[in-house]
Amino acid sequence: MPASVMPTSSRGDGSQSSAAVSAVGLRKSYGDKTVLDGIDLRIPAGSVFALLGPNGAGKTTTVQILSTLISADGGQAQVAGHDLSADPQAVRAAIGVTGQFSAVDGLITGEENMLLMADLHHLPRREGRRVAAELLERFDLTEAAKKPAATYSGGMKRRLDIAMTLVGDPRIIFLDEPTTGLDPRARHNMWQIIRDLVTGGVTVFLTTQYLEEADELADRIAVLHDGRIAAEGSAEELKRLIPGGHIRLRFTDPAAYRSAATELTEATRDDEALALHIPSDGSQRELRSILDWLEAAGIEADELTVHTPDLDDVFFALTSSSSNESSRGVTEPGSSVNEPKEKAR
Ligand SMILES: Nc1ncnc2c1ncn2[C@@H]1O[C@H](COP(=O)(O)OP(=O)(O)OP(=O)(O)O)[C@@H](O)[C@H]1O
Ligand SMILES: [Mg+2]
Repeated sequence: MPASVMPTSSRGDGSQSSAAVSAVGLRKSYGDKTVLDGIDLRIPAGSVFALLGPNGAGKTTTVQILSTLISADGGQAQVAGHDLSADPQAVRAAIGVTGQFSAVDGLITGEENMLLMADLHHLPRREGRRVAAELLERFDLTEAAKKPAATYSGGMKRRLDIAMTLVGDPRIIFLDEPTTGLDPRARHNMWQIIRDLVTGGVTVFLTTQYLEEADELADRIAVLHDGRIAAEGSAEELKRLIPGGHIRLRFTDPAAYRSAATELTEATRDDEALALHIPSDGSQRELRSILDWLEAAGIEADELTVHTPDLDDVFFALTSSSSNESSRGVTEPGSSVNEPKEKAR
């Protein structure tokens, strides 16, 4: 336990005193190509963090650095309370990594793959067999355990891959695109596996290209673009970052609708539905100002709904290279992600 307590918490937010992963200014280049251009991360223990980014954004590179497979060119990071460069051995002992490309050996059986991992973790033979059997059972692979892994479906291989990662009982696991290539049912199964891990107290660092997946699983999401974190926050916070959100007021009384429409000049009218769309970031402050205004004007709306854009909108807005200029505004105020949260306090 003490190993996961980070003494370096500088945010002073009290609620998240221990970080499973924290990094400041991580950099990595290959030749003259800068892949990571100063990445900061702070992942509370017991949470799910999703790193999103298009192909080649540097997701795998980040995972490889944090899991000690490669070293960064600059910056500092602690994983499970251990410094990456000073004590990589201790980091390795605390983590599990399921790489983007399967570590499963197809020529041997699922069970043999598991036992190989148990050997790598120096588990005594009997203990290794017990752990392997238990994990195979948990991942619904008992029936297939004696078949060569090459005969497994993609979903089964992925499950075996994660089961192998769990042999050492890691407190932090890195899952690099755990559901790429899986069908919808297998993907949902994988999500459940990830949720169960978190319930068991494990911290999950996952990379994904699926916004839906990040939305579904992650407490916090970071979007990697051009070597930097273009935005970071909860799914809701990220959705508030980009335009497209609005507050919809619907009326049943046409007179109330008309007077509201005359007054709220910035609203888009939907005369048929007697509804007004007011551009908004959906923050509490904006919501309150609209409610106050309605109150003062003596207008009563029958329905008020807040519409936030979905993560796909966010992803495209933040990672389209053609919109560099417009994304800048979102990129720089990393603080703007936190703003609505502070307002809400
Ligand atoms: N060993 C290497 N040598 C040279 N370039 C590399 C190496 N590893 C990665 N790169 C480059 O670094 C960039 C980031 O690669 P990385 O694999 O981290 O991206 P990714 O976000 O995981 O992409 P994907 O979604 O396709 O998995 C790419 O441009 C890649 O070509
Ligand atoms: Mg990758």
